[in-house]
Amino acid sequence: MYTLDELKVFVHKCRRCSLCKSRTNVVFGEGNAKAAIMFVGEGPGFYEDKSGRPFVGRAGKLLDKMLGAVGFKREEVYITNIVKCRPPNNRNPYEEESEKCLDFLRWQVKIIDPSIIVCLGAVSARNLIDKDFRITQQRGVWYTKGKFNMIATYHPAALLRDETKKIDAWKDLRSIRKKYDEIMNNKI
Ligand code: URA
Repeated sequence: MYTLDELKVFVHKCRRCSLCKSRTNVVFGEGNAKAAIMFVGEGPGFYEDKSGRPFVGRAGKLLDKMLGAVGFKREEVYITNIVKCRPPNNRNPYEEESEKCLDFLRWQVKIIDPSIIVCLGAVSARNLIDKDFRITQQRGVWYTKGKFNMIATYHPAALLRDETKKIDAWKDLRSIRKKYDEIMNNKI
């Protein structure tokens, strides 16, 4: 079994799809390598591509606030994306790009072995929960996939575009915190 650092070296050399041609940096993901909870976004944006770190732009700042509001520190969770290289002009990743990159996310999940996986937005949920996932209808619902508890909530960028969605996102976050506490209490 690889370590996350070994996998990272491998992913940094990836040329499996054409996103490698326009990237500045590969954005592998970051956080606690033993996190009980992982947050998975869609793909790096402008600032993530420049810095090589996930969720550092405006949406990232909001994600930090959302996590903080329910008592999670960024360092205690793990944050990554479906695709590790920025799609040009922040378009959604194409299916073949996501498919090729999902191998890396599978390895990350295997190594980290979280109990909870939170999909941030529809692109993430369609890749990880159900290919026809409807974010407005299915967000906030818990799914069990193998040994993982999975849930999707709105992508923070969607909350920046439409503040009215924040009420539901807040409900989802409290549900996520509750599940996390239940799981952690059962582990002791
Ligand atoms: N949006 C995402 O989906 N991921 C990031 O890392 C940043 C913005």
